[in-house]
Amino acid sequence: MRLSRYFLPVLKETPSDAQIASHRLMLRAGMIRQQAAGIYSWLPLGFRVLEKLQRIVHEEQQRAGHIPVLMPTLQPAELWRESGRFDAYGKELLRIRDRHDRDMLYGPTNEEMITDIFRSGVSSYKSLPMTLYHIQWKFRDEVRPRFGVMRGREFLMKDGYNFDLTYEDSMHAYNRHMASYLRTYERMGLKAIPMRADSGPIGGDDTHEFLVLADTGESEVFYDSAVTELTLGDRAVDYDDRAQLEAIKAEWTTPYARTDETHDAALFEQIPEDRRKVGRGIEVGQIFYFGIKYSEPMGAMVADETGAKVPVHMGSHGIGVSRLVGALIEAHHDDKGIKWPEAVAPFGAGIVNLKVGDPDVDAACAQIYAALSAAGVDPLLDDRDERAGQKFATMELIGLPWRITVGPRGLKNGVVELTCRATGESEELSAEAACLKLAGIFAGL
Ligand SMILES: Nc1ncnc2c1ncn2[C@@H]1O[C@H](COP(=O)(O)OP(=O)(O)O)[C@@H](O)[C@H]1O
Ligand SMILES: [Mg+2]
Repeated sequence: MRLSRYFLPVLKETPSDAQIASHRLMLRAGMIRQQAAGIYSWLPLGFRVLEKLQRIVHEEQQRAGHIPVLMPTLQPAELWRESGRFDAYGKELLRIRDRHDRDMLYGPTNEEMITDIFRSGVSSYKSLPMTLYHIQWKFRDEVRPRFGVMRGREFLMKDGYNFDLTYEDSMHAYNRHMASYLRTYERMGLKAIPMRADSGPIGGDDTHEFLVLADTGESEVFYDSAVTELTLGDRAVDYDDRAQLEAIKAEWTTPYARTDETHDAALFEQIPEDRRKVGRGIEVGQIFYFGIKYSEPMGAMVADETGAKVPVHMGSHGIGVSRLVGALIEAHHDDKGIKWPEAVAPFGAGIVNLKVGDPDVDAACAQIYAALSAAGVDPLLDDRDERAGQKFATMELIGLPWRITVGPRGLKNGVVELTCRATGESEELSAEAACLKLAGIFAGL
């Protein structure tokens, strides 16, 4: 992409109504525009990040054997009457009436609809296990939408639902979700810690929330610092290997990590003092086993090995895709702007042309642009006729992980400057070497 032909409405002033860094930076970098309280348009730069996150989520879900579908945003009230939630859900549920006076709602979640899909197509245990998921917009009429995309009213969520014959199979699905979520966040360049969460009136302790540590998070968290050292790295995860997944869950959930809702001061005190941490976190996902809560009232039954009809065991599992954009910025920024991890950056590198109109500089930029594009680095070329300082400030604000600066003086010596946004370090090297280096970094993503 060439900046002269792009739509990047950056703001010079810091928006006064934005209270946290990610909200301020998303507005300043021209990523989003608020259309109503808690409802946003995604402008080109923001939309690119959202798409990158969705791609990672799709890849990791499908790697775990989960099947993508797409359910509508609008749902008929009848399904929610079957589960009893149409009346129970409260004011967060946006109820709509169509021209035929039928009650509809904008889905805040999809347990009822997915259960309806399942019961219409599956009747035997032989079709199990099965996990269906989609990435779709949700609406929850939050009283106090705030912090930009972090707590919106309309937001993008990946929600997945597992269907299993037994509790044990459902726990395997739970563990698949835990491992696939760990992989997903790690690939995005985030450390998200599974913390035991409150399962509410359903009871049981089979629910974990994934929290990204950040001072601006809405949840208070208590944890053993040992849990922050864990990484999956590039170990091979076999999603059919129950023992391996059980071990991964144990590895991450044995160290103490809880939100204020489930915090147990006595247990916390048992951690060595230097590892006892209290902080704040942003919830970027949750996994939940709820058994036959929906399958029983809605008649989602399968014939088991003996031919008897039994309700399926279910769980639901969500990743807050649009919230993740904010969480990523909370985790990666400085006073100049965003610092995107490579895997989720809207563009992999910015090319700054210091002398637009100089044939040598223009030609060198075009060559670098072509080489980076061919290598899948997805460059953004700043070919506007602006001051260098202005161009650098824009690149720093929008947070591209790498910048290649091309000017007449450097070219005379056969070099360009390669600058890393994360460390701020620069080096001079030939254009070819700079492109090769970036190609290598992005090859693995
Ligand atoms: N209002 C919201 N705005 C943005 N993301 C949200 C919002 N509510 C929930 N999410 C995201 O969707 C994920 C799954 O939702 P869920 O666990 O049902 O939400 P909650 O715990 O807020 O009831 C959450 O972990 C969070 O990342
Ligand atoms: Mg939750």
